[in-house]
Amino acid sequence: MSELIPRVALNSGTEIPQLGIGVFLVDPATTQANVEQALELGYRHIDTATGYHNETEVGKAIKASGLARDELFITTKFSNVDHRTGDVKGAFNRSLEMLDSDYVDLYLIHWPMPKLGKFVQTWLEFEEFYRAGQAKAIGVSNFMIENLEQLAANATVTPAVNQVELHPLFQQRELRAYLAKVGIKVEAWGPLGQGRFKLDEIPTLTTVAQAHGKTPAQVILRWHIQEGTVIFPKANSLEHQKANLDIFDFELSEAELTAIRALDTGHRLAADPAEVN
Ligand SMILES: NC(=O)c1ccc[n+]([C@@H]2O[C@H](COP(=O)([O-])OP(=O)(O)OC[C@H]3O[C@@H](n4cnc5c(N)ncnc54)[C@H](OP(=O)(O)O)[C@@H]3O)[C@@H](O)[C@H]2O)c1
Repeated sequence: MSELIPRVALNSGTEIPQLGIGVFLVDPATTQANVEQALELGYRHIDTATGYHNETEVGKAIKASGLARDELFITTKFSNVDHRTGDVKGAFNRSLEMLDSDYVDLYLIHWPMPKLGKFVQTWLEFEEFYRAGQAKAIGVSNFMIENLEQLAANATVTPAVNQVELHPLFQQRELRAYLAKVGIKVEAWGPLGQGRFKLDEIPTLTTVAQAHGKTPAQVILRWHIQEGTVIFPKANSLEHQKANLDIFDFELSEAELTAIRALDTGHRLAADPAEVN
């Protein structure tokens, strides 16, 4: 299965599987089993964060899987708590320890916290992890254009990715155009809308789903893939984990892509990065 998942080239020179699995709100008590099951099904990309409190369990699942570390792509994120204290090196080393690995494939600043005013300083320390090969790629999350411009004016390394809220109801067109221009890949969090809207109550999605013999969730994930976005939907159940992998045997037409693009409301459903501080 893993060979069906396209890989996206990052500006770091490394590649990321375009589909992975996220573990936000996966209970630490069930994370190891959840990730082991995902790895068994063919997922090779795991998105975690210090703030999810399950890095240790992700690390245990990796070990238990018996897969070679270089077959996997592991992302974790620098937490807001550590951002406030400014202990960047300490936080990074603790993540490596919890993940039981001597490197991560991608390390992200979880939120810019613009009112705190520390993300440039934090990024300069991220650059050291990158140069040391302890983070094969470094990136940001929830960054707005003005945050990225401030970073570009002060940094040596361009972020490999920006991980942001992105789904059919909030498509981030302006931000995505900017990211494409400066060579930063887009990662979607909440690719299915985090349950904030009912997938089977949007006629465009149900019609397209019926036409392909797929579910609305699979249509949304396929749309992300064809838009070039990197995704890692969270799935607790075996059924959802399997369904989310089963999106490489059909293709949305240009008309279908256009119809889904028309669902954009321009309004976020979750937290505003300007207000998370
Ligand atoms: N950087 C950030 O600030 C940030 C913020 C939020 C999330 N993230 C990352 O993005 C990942 C994904 O986002 P998310 O977990 O918030 O939301 P999501 O992936 O959009 O939605 C997850 C929800 O969709 C359900 N689901 C999964 N597959 C489905 C399917 N095939 N059909 C119907 N429902 C399905 C899940 O149910 P079950 O669990 O019951 O299967 C769960 O309730 C996170 O896990 C995390 O890694 C990052």
